Amino acid sequence: MFTTFRSPALVEFGADGLERLAEICRSFGVSRPLIVTDKFLADSPLIKKVTQPLVEAGVEYGLFRETLPEPTTGSIDTLREKFESDDYDGLIAFGGGSAMDSAKALAITETFGKDYRRWVVPHTPADRVAVPIVCVPTTAGSGSEVSNACILKDTATGEKLVYLGQSCVPSAAVIDYELTLNVPASLTASTGIDALAHSLEAYTSTGANPFSDAMALSALSLIGPNLRTVISEPSDREARRRVMLGATQAGYAFTSAGVTLVHGMTAPLGGLFGIQHGVSNAMVMPTVHRWSTSAGQKRYATAARALGLAADGHDDATASQLVADELTALNRDLGLPSMQVYGLDKQRYFEQIGTMTEQAFLTGGPALNPRVPTPEEMADLYRAAWEEKWD
Ligand SMILES: [Fe+2]
Repeated sequence: MFTTFRSPALVEFGADGLERLAEICRSFGVSRPLIVTDKFLADSPLIKKVTQPLVEAGVEYGLFRETLPEPTTGSIDTLREKFESDDYDGLIAFGGGSAMDSAKALAITETFGKDYRRWVVPHTPADRVAVPIVCVPTTAGSGSEVSNACILKDTATGEKLVYLGQSCVPSAAVIDYELTLNVPASLTASTGIDALAHSLEAYTSTGANPFSDAMALSALSLIGPNLRTVISEPSDREARRRVMLGATQAGYAFTSAGVTLVHGMTAPLGGLFGIQHGVSNAMVMPTVHRWSTSAGQKRYATAARALGLAADGHDDATASQLVADELTALNRDLGLPSMQVYGLDKQRYFEQIGTMTEQAFLTGGPALNPRVPTPEEMADLYRAAWEEKWD
């Protein structure tokens, strides 16, 4: 059996790595980049971290500041107008998952054709490279700076469009963990729990392999023990470094092994209810992993050890049970809301369970879970997740 491991051609990780940004752009044939970011970052002093090295190197650039928190086909149309309005030959994605996914969606449709629906998985060009993208993530979460995934909302239907392929992998990622030092607590929590979700799903996925395992286990050991610290002591550089490195490694892990049932079930929570991605993951993680543990006892036990929850002396049966309990405790300690505290409309939620179940299976994630649910079991999981409380 062969396994696949994809990666950007260049990944730089550390502090102050952005000084080389102009040189990196040029090495990928980008002489006139368009920076894709949002209004908040464009107006913050942080933007200088990206623009200053370009100015100093005499690189002319453009700035697109209209990235939406959940990118849509409409917002990519606006981005394309800007991209085609000048001689831009590459993209610098500066921000979280939304800026990076916006750049990816533009690159795919600009390179292969503008029909958004034509390139969704499994039709995303798997081995062709699109317009060069240099990713500069400002949050530790999505892993989009190294991943092969891009998610977009169809403005007309509200559906999530998923693209998976090498054409979604950026050319380069420059990952400076110091950019996360001033990220507010709520965003640190929701992005951090997303990174933890990626590593745990990749490690317990039936698509797991030696490449993804190495990355996922390292990510679990970097993220799990440090998430509380980056909330309680946001300027702790070492904790920020660890969580950022873990989030990137988790991006590698799920690109190779896939994400599974949590991400499958939360795709409709984002599409139908507009719940922020990391928050929706937090809402279902304890329920889903508790239900899945029995089918993947050995891997959950190893994950518990990587997370620092279990000592080597704990047997697998005991250690594996600790993971779901820790997810509940983490949600509480990070201030992430349960469905009821979030204020989700109960009647609407229960009415939509059938639709959510259908849409969750379409993502392909549930099929990779160690325990694959029937539609009835998934509906039960949605009901059980509603009852979960930690806040
Ligand atoms: Fe995610």
